[in-house]
Amino acid sequence: MKNALGAVDTVLLLGGRSEIGLEIVRLLVGLGASRVVLAVRGEFVPPELDAEVHVVPFDALDVHAHGAVFSKAVELVGDLDVVISAFGVLGSQAHYDADPAAAAEAVAVNYSGHVSAGLHAARVLREQGHGTLVMLSSVAGARVRRANFVYGSAKAGLDGFAQGLGDALHGSGARVLIVRPGFVIGRMTEGLTPAPMSSTPRQVALATVGALRDGASSVWVPRALGPVFGVLRLLPRALWRRMPR
Ligand SMILES: NC(=O)c1ccc[n+]([C@@H]2O[C@H](COP(=O)([O-])OP(=O)(O)OC[C@H]3O[C@@H](n4cnc5c(N)ncnc54)[C@H](OP(=O)(O)O)[C@@H]3O)[C@@H](O)[C@H]2O)c1
Repeated sequence: MKNALGAVDTVLLLGGRSEIGLEIVRLLVGLGASRVVLAVRGEFVPPELDAEVHVVPFDALDVHAHGAVFSKAVELVGDLDVVISAFGVLGSQAHYDADPAAAAEAVAVNYSGHVSAGLHAARVLREQGHGTLVMLSSVAGARVRRANFVYGSAKAGLDGFAQGLGDALHGSGARVLIVRPGFVIGRMTEGLTPAPMSSTPRQVALATVGALRDGASSVWVPRALGPVFGVLRLLPRALWRRMPR
């Protein structure tokens, strides 16, 4: 439940090691969140946080276990004020071209995993009558590029799913916030040359927390990427396919 000041009190982070997700959690804890559930795969020593921290097992590919992850989180901390769906894998298009099974598995993490977790989150938040599901989308899904079309197509699917889910929850008290970062300099993009209008996990977190405070349904990071992609979406295919890798 929200604390006495009306601020976020409880947070569930799906993909509990995510750099971006943990930055959002740190900011929310700084603003008063007192109970946090980090849902991760494998062994995990949680970072120091000025909050009660719980770790629960979570594998995006194990969709049949997702319901139990939410039940456990609610059992541990009560109503969930914010659920952050931050798991994902980038991978390279060259790798996916060479290994279609790996491509299908990445899409299962980046799309189907969010569909399953998102529908469980919607059920819980709807029953509570409040709470926000934060979904980490990407500009990669705003218009899919040939350079990373496996990842981009999954993000496009995730973004459409998140928009539909947000509409389905309208009036329930629960809502969805879609976060669309551009290139974020961090672990996921290690070794890649930063694209124009790059950001850091902290900048994404600051924009996310600002959007949560404002009750926004989506936020681009940086903000200017919204209008930029408004124009890029209209580029003819012949030009778009020449976009640099
Ligand atoms: N970084 C960027 O440039 C960028 C840009 C736009 C959008 N995004 C999106 O933002 C989100 C967070 O990214 P990030 O930068 O924070 O990346 P990150 O630090 O690499 O975090 C991604 C997390 O997803 C987890 N994960 C991967 N497969 C999983 C599975 N099968 N089950 C459970 N967890 C799994 C990873 O867990 P392990 O630690 O166990 O591997 C990792 O902790 C992702 O959805 C990403 O696509 C990132």
